[in-house]
Amino acid sequence: MRAFHWQLLPSLALLRAVAGSPSFSSPVLGPTSPHLAQCLLSAPAYTFSCENTTAVNTCCVPTQGLVLQTQFWDTYTGLEAQGQKLPWKAWTIHGLWPDNCDGTFESYCDFSRQYDPKPDPPVLNNVTVPIVPGVKLDEVIKSFGRHDLLKYMNKFWVAQGQPSPEFWAHEFSKHATCFSTFDTTCYKNYKQHEEVVNFFDTVVQAYKQYPTYTFLASHGILPSNTTTYTLRAVLDALEAATGATPHVGCGADGQLNEVWYYSHSFGAPQLGVFKHLNTTFGATCPESGIRYLLRAPGSEA
Ligand SMILES: *[C@@H]1O[C@H](CO)[C@@H](O)[C@H](O)[C@H]1NC(C)=O
Ligand SMILES: *[C@@H]1O[C@H](CO)[C@@H](O)[C@H](O)[C@H]1NC(C)=O
Ligand SMILES: *[C@@H]1O[C@H](CO)[C@@H](O)[C@H](O)[C@H]1NC(C)=O
Ligand SMILES: *[C@@H]1O[C@H](CO)[C@@H](O)[C@H](O)[C@H]1NC(C)=O
Repeated sequence: MRAFHWQLLPSLALLRAVAGSPSFSSPVLGPTSPHLAQCLLSAPAYTFSCENTTAVNTCCVPTQGLVLQTQFWDTYTGLEAQGQKLPWKAWTIHGLWPDNCDGTFESYCDFSRQYDPKPDPPVLNNVTVPIVPGVKLDEVIKSFGRHDLLKYMNKFWVAQGQPSPEFWAHEFSKHATCFSTFDTTCYKNYKQHEEVVNFFDTVVQAYKQYPTYTFLASHGILPSNTTTYTLRAVLDALEAATGATPHVGCGADGQLNEVWYYSHSFGAPQLGVFKHLNTTFGATCPESGIRYLLRAPGSEA
């Protein structure tokens, strides 16, 4: 069972060694990371999210600590003509979500960081989610010089029916604003939108740990418009890879289209160390007759 990424611990030890240094840098954390060195110096701050009810530094461990890395299997984007295509032999990123420990969740936790042009839900507890147009997060990423990150996101974080940067804005404003470890106060000498770039880096790092296409392919589960699969076979493949049962989602016609991987993060999710857990939500796929469809011609890059 590979429930915990022990191979990252040498990096943590390195972090601990340099934590006191003002010129602190890390191979794990991106240049826009919060001041996580503070967490390493206060020993008990490090714990798995949701597993210690004693008050911890909320910059070090997320308060809404059931962490979900969510992915899509789409067969088209609708914006192929504009070059927005799906990656060959890879699922795409949906997001990284901070659920409450019991699996319930909150949304749009900070209206001052609302960049989503299409809030969903549009009204939350009787308050209309404001729409603040004009902040283009792809431009924000570029302004931090992170062309590498932008390139990766354009390839693997691909929206359907809307330009991908609008979808990134949705994911940031709806979900990341509820992650306490991305609060702007957690950053030393905070620079506007630093946490946005840090969140996107964190999502990419988590996504890379769950190569769903490969997990399924290694058990002979490949896209096909003629073969169907059982739920047991899909779950067997994903459980063998992660040691836990994710949520798998299907459309009305049994079309496999989502996987959500559940975890508790060791300290901040920015560190990328996750303990895999079973879904709290079950599956929305039929027991048999699951269709894992080929992408439409011209939709893959
Ligand atoms: C929970 O946190 C407290 C205080 O930070 C610490 O003393 C204790 O050892 C922790 N318990 C576990 C099980 O990690
Ligand atoms: C929303 O407004 C309706 C009608 O005024 C009221 O009945 C309901 O309790 C409100 N809900 C919340 C969550 O405030
Ligand atoms: C996940 O579910 C399986 C099967 O029900 C069970 O054997 C296992 O203990 C569960 N794992 C966790 C971490 O709860
Ligand atoms: C497979 O099915 C999908 C979804 O209906 C469709 O878009 C695609 O073109 C089909 N591919 C082939 C090769 O038939």
